Amino acid sequence: MPIEPVDAQSHARRSLVVMANRLPVRQVQRGQNLTWEWSPGGLVSALAPVLTRSEGVWIGWNGRPGRTSTSFQFEGIENLSVPLRTQEIDDFYNGFSNRTIWPLYHDAVRWPEYHRIWWKPYVEVNRRFAEAAASVAAPKATVWVHDYHFQLVPGMLREMRPDLKIGFFLHIPFPPQELFSQLPWRRQILEGLLGSDVVGFQTRTAAQNFARLARRYTATGGNDRELRHKGRTIVPASFPISIDFQHFDSLARTSAVNARAQHLRRVLGGEGRRIILGVDRLDYTKGIDVRLKAFRELLRSKAVTIEDCVFVQCAVPSREKVVQYADLKRRVEQTVGEINGEFGSVGRVAVHYLHRNLPIEELVALYRLADVMVVTPFRDGMNLIAKEYVASRTENTGVLVLSEFAGAAQELRRALLVNPHDVDGIVSTLERSLRLSQEETRRRMRWLRRVVQKHDVFAWADSFFEALKDG
Ligand code: G6P
Repeated sequence: MPIEPVDAQSHARRSLVVMANRLPVRQVQRGQNLTWEWSPGGLVSALAPVLTRSEGVWIGWNGRPGRTSTSFQFEGIENLSVPLRTQEIDDFYNGFSNRTIWPLYHDAVRWPEYHRIWWKPYVEVNRRFAEAAASVAAPKATVWVHDYHFQLVPGMLREMRPDLKIGFFLHIPFPPQELFSQLPWRRQILEGLLGSDVVGFQTRTAAQNFARLARRYTATGGNDRELRHKGRTIVPASFPISIDFQHFDSLARTSAVNARAQHLRRVLGGEGRRIILGVDRLDYTKGIDVRLKAFRELLRSKAVTIEDCVFVQCAVPSREKVVQYADLKRRVEQTVGEINGEFGSVGRVAVHYLHRNLPIEELVALYRLADVMVVTPFRDGMNLIAKEYVASRTENTGVLVLSEFAGAAQELRRALLVNPHDVDGIVSTLERSLRLSQEETRRRMRWLRRVVQKHDVFAWADSFFEALKDG
């Protein structure tokens, strides 16, 4: 699709502005050419139709170092790409966003690093994005800011443009006081978020954590449902994000996906061999290492053998410049090697490990194929993989093993819930998942599918816009 440059003058009239660190499109190499395509994910599918309808604009970063803003249209959506310089990618993105906030908000499963030299670029980049939004938003427009990269934007934007409706949604957890209080810039972050009219979280607990911290560390009154700050009312609330259920459901029914699933099943050892699947970004919050260890224990216990079952782990490369991610990659690859060394035989491995991005059709073929899906994050805002698996199980078969510390566990209560820190617990739950009766499997999956179908990503976006309208 060709990129049409947009006249900068036409910017000043957008009634809806969406801001996220990533643009909804990404550049990919197709043969000799670099082209754009939609980024995968629920956020894009939910917001693209709304943006097209309202002729809105999506502000984000194109993933590469640069110095100039560019704007272009892709399939009816206007993209405004705001640049990050190389040093800012290190300090704002890899540093403050992904080595300070990310671990701190995920239960400090890795040590959060507090560096003053990362804070300043975080403030500067937030200001640049706030200015971009301020210059493209029409009078009284709605601006919806997404995620932990831009927690200061609502406050900055409120000062620049008091006429705007500002919503913020945090895709990751919001920590309790014991952790959040560590942050040297806790007051600034809270005041930044308080610039919004509605601050949305994945769970009620996260919304409560925020409301209590705002009252403790800033001049804010009110209660957990409604805060008062600088003469304004702010609504903290939970809006659990979801997926485009219909899209996964229909894709799972296509003959191409089914043929691929059948082929993969044959390759993996036929009907008699159960398939356990894990799909994650290669991130230390996801508990990939612990689930591999649990699988090893299960094989060691001789409750199952590699003739009975096989593990497929897809790990999507992520944040590779951050040292903790590189460490995890080494550890996971070592564990896979150890398990295959201990249990594999020539022509038959215990664990298949794929470290790459998979096309959605391949992913859905794997979801269709997997008798058991294992989702064991130590902490996760939501976890959409769990919902994608459920949406792809059109025959109500398959067992979802889900960490009780994923936001999704609040809704997907008929999954087999596990504590990801308890290796013995995962081992016995894996064993149980392989032995669950057909009847119980169907009962659980039917229930899970109803939940995800009803609360899809479109319902999520509607409920947020509704709250913003009332707020
Ligand atoms: C999480 C975050 C998103 C982020 C995504 C991928 O889901 O909530 O904001 O875009 O991870 O991470 P990346 O660093 O590649 O954007």
